[in-house]
Amino acid sequence: MSLVLRVPGDKSISHRVLVLAGLARVDSRVEGLLDAADVRSTAAALRELGAEIPSGWDEEVRLGGSTSWHGVAGSLDCGNSGTTARLLAGLVAGLGLETVLDGDASLRRRPMDRVVYPLQAMGARIAYLGERDRLPVALRARASGSLRPLRHRPRVASAQVKSSLLLAGLTSGTRVEVIEPGRSRDHTERLMAAMGAPIEFGPCGEEGARALFDPGDEPPALRSLRLRVPGDASSAAFLVGAALLAGRPLRIEGVGLNPTRTGYLDVLRRMGAVIDSRATGEEAGEPVGDLFVEPGELTGTEIEPVEVPGLLDELPLLAVLAARARGTTSIRGAAELRVKESDRLALLATNLEALGVACREREDGLEISGSAGTLTGAAVTGGDHRISMAFGALSAHPNARVRVDDPACVGVSYPGFWDDLRRLTGEGG
Ligand code: S3P
Repeated sequence: MSLVLRVPGDKSISHRVLVLAGLARVDSRVEGLLDAADVRSTAAALRELGAEIPSGWDEEVRLGGSTSWHGVAGSLDCGNSGTTARLLAGLVAGLGLETVLDGDASLRRRPMDRVVYPLQAMGARIAYLGERDRLPVALRARASGSLRPLRHRPRVASAQVKSSLLLAGLTSGTRVEVIEPGRSRDHTERLMAAMGAPIEFGPCGEEGARALFDPGDEPPALRSLRLRVPGDASSAAFLVGAALLAGRPLRIEGVGLNPTRTGYLDVLRRMGAVIDSRATGEEAGEPVGDLFVEPGELTGTEIEPVEVPGLLDELPLLAVLAARARGTTSIRGAAELRVKESDRLALLATNLEALGVACREREDGLEISGSAGTLTGAAVTGGDHRISMAFGALSAHPNARVRVDDPACVGVSYPGFWDDLRRLTGEGG
């Protein structure tokens, strides 16, 4: 008999729902919005800017439409959340408001030029208050609707950058076109389309992946949102990996199946895993369904640069699964992992080596030789939720006893992770 689990609402979609709901004509009603620290950072910052968002939410939440936005004299704390900092930079610049964006020590180490440059090219007034390319940044007031159209080709695919620019376009009524070298997650585009915004997007062609917001002469009147946020595909990935390692059949219900998020399933199938996904419906343009995992042996594989944007947040999990696979796994084209909540390539390599797994760190990836031996030791998480959950999943293997130094850091995206993992491994819970 399969164990049946559900994962909390999608983090990326939850951030975007909070931001976009305030731009609609009337109130939105949303079920299953993720209640985790990163999303609370977005909610708190938006509330300070005038959005009508309750201070806590249960199963269903009402989000005010057509909010009276205003600048904030102090600084807005984006906490640990890169998505909050990047999305709010675009929103605030598009609305022409004045504020300062800041974050915790980890977020202050992450690059901001990638959104600041193109927003400045649109005419936004943004200045670094400390080090170049880093938070805190100050956005200065300017007349709303006074930005210039933008055609932007970022060097790396980034959903946060693309979304930031689309939000600047949407809130200022300005044409924005982003052409990415690969296809990053497209939740902003899908939600904007569900609200009736004039947006075009599609698969990656020879030129790249294109998203175009073109308001024409008339800024769009946005419809409100009504949806149940799909279960987070990235949170589900850790349970899928743990089930494979624990040898336990698992069904995950109500999870997001957006093809820009399910790249890890293709890799796992290539490694020999038997995983079935069945679509059951759609929520605001987002496909939702169930995952069925049958345990079995895994074999090493090559993860190519072109695949990386579609499985970016799942690479820590794939790396620990590679440690238990037969043969070698190589990951290339993943230098972006160095500028996430931690330098994930460095932490994965040192942790795997400390556990006795042969792992070579390259500038843009890893080469991991699977090990059949007992893995015992501790993993250093650097306060990074996905490193913590990846090594937590690894400990589901009967021959792995891995402690993580900071289990609580999973609270930014999946507060109930350890309980769900215990349900899966049968260790209490
Ligand atoms: C996110 C985009 C991804 C991902 C992050 C969440 C988002 O980053 O790693 O966890 O919600 O837009 P990129 O901006 O590098 O694609």
